[in-house]
Formats: sequence, C-alpha cells, structure tokens
Amino acid sequence: MNEIHLLLLLHLLGATIWVGGHILLSVIILPQVWKEKSVEKLFAFESRYEWIGMPALAVMLITGVRMAYLYNVRITTWFAFKTPIETVISLKLLCLFSLVLFALSAQCFVLPRLKTNIEKLPLMAFHILSVTCISIVMLVLGSFVRYGGISL
Ligand code: HEM
Repeated sequence: MNEIHLLLLLHLLGATIWVGGHILLSVIILPQVWKEKSVEKLFAFESRYEWIGMPALAVMLITGVRMAYLYNVRITTWFAFKTPIETVISLKLLCLFSLVLFALSAQCFVLPRLKTNIEKLPLMAFHILSVTCISIVMLVLGSFVRYGGISL
C-alpha cells in the first residue's frame, strides 16, 4: 500500500464518521427533537459525538492537505482555480471554511441560547442542515479527483 492509498483510507474513515454523524443528526435526532419540542436529545448527541466528530474533521483536513501536495497542489496555488485538481481542493477548502463558520456560530451563539429558549430551534436546525449539506458537497467534490478534477 502506498502513502496516498493509506491517506485516502484515513480520509474516507474521517468522512464516514463526519458525514454519517451529521446525516444521523439531521434525519433521526433533529426530527425527534422538533416533534417533542425538547432539546435534551440534541445536547446529549452533541456531547457524545463531539469527541469523535472533531478528530474526524481534523484527520480529513490533515490527510486532504497532504494528498493535495501529493497531487502537486501546493498552498501557493490554492484559490487560483487554474487546474482541475486545484479547483477541487480550493472548492473543498472554501466549503471547509464555511463549515467552520457554521460550527463556531452554533457553538458560540445558538447552542447557549437554545438551552433556555426553544424558539432558537429553527435557527439550530438551519445550522445542522447547512453543515450536513456542505459536508455532502465536500464528499461529492472529493469524488471528482479520480475523474481528473473540475474545469471551470
Ligand atoms: C467534510 C470534509 C470532507 C469530506 C466529507 C471529504 C470527502 C472525500 C471523499 C469521500 C473522497 C474520496 C473520493 C474517491 O475516492 O473517489 C475525498 C477525496 C479527496 N479529498 Fe476530501 N473530504 C473532506 C475534506 C477535505 C479537505 C479539507 C481536503 C483538502 C484540503 C480534501 C482533499 C481531498 C483530496 C485531495 C482527495 C482525493 C483523493 C484521491 O482520490 O486520491 N478533502 N474526500
């Protein structure tokens, strides 16, 4: 097994945990919380998922950047949108940036208010669904690499 294959396996394991966890949150936990108008299950999931979800995202970032270098896409060329593989990497990094903004907004602003105010649930649902959709987009973008990338 060569380096890129091992990195890809770790990357896929990270994607499984991250995307799987967020789909579960969106289609199982969130509808239940919405129906019962009780946020306890949401907080229980958040606190139990965090220890595996955040490392999974970190693993995807580290392995993704290393794979990008192995594809000759270096930091100096990021966001140029000039070659097909670099375009995929740049789009993934933009997605990652927006994902981190949503996650920070949820942790710092929405979740603390949701504890005492159920009316923040639609805003939290918007955050959860946005993170889930962005993550699926990142997965789809990743699948383009083996087909040569994206030409804009
Ligand atoms: C939520 C975050 C992410 C998800 C869900 C994700 C998902 C995936 C998936 C499923 C693949 C496999 C495609 C295939 O085998 O055909 C892939 C490949 C790839 N990803 Fe990601 N990824 C994420 C973040 C990142 C980041 C942050 C980077 C780099 C900055 C990155 C760089 C790459 C590269 C270079 C490949 C190509 C590997 C190859 O086919 O040899 N990914 N990604």
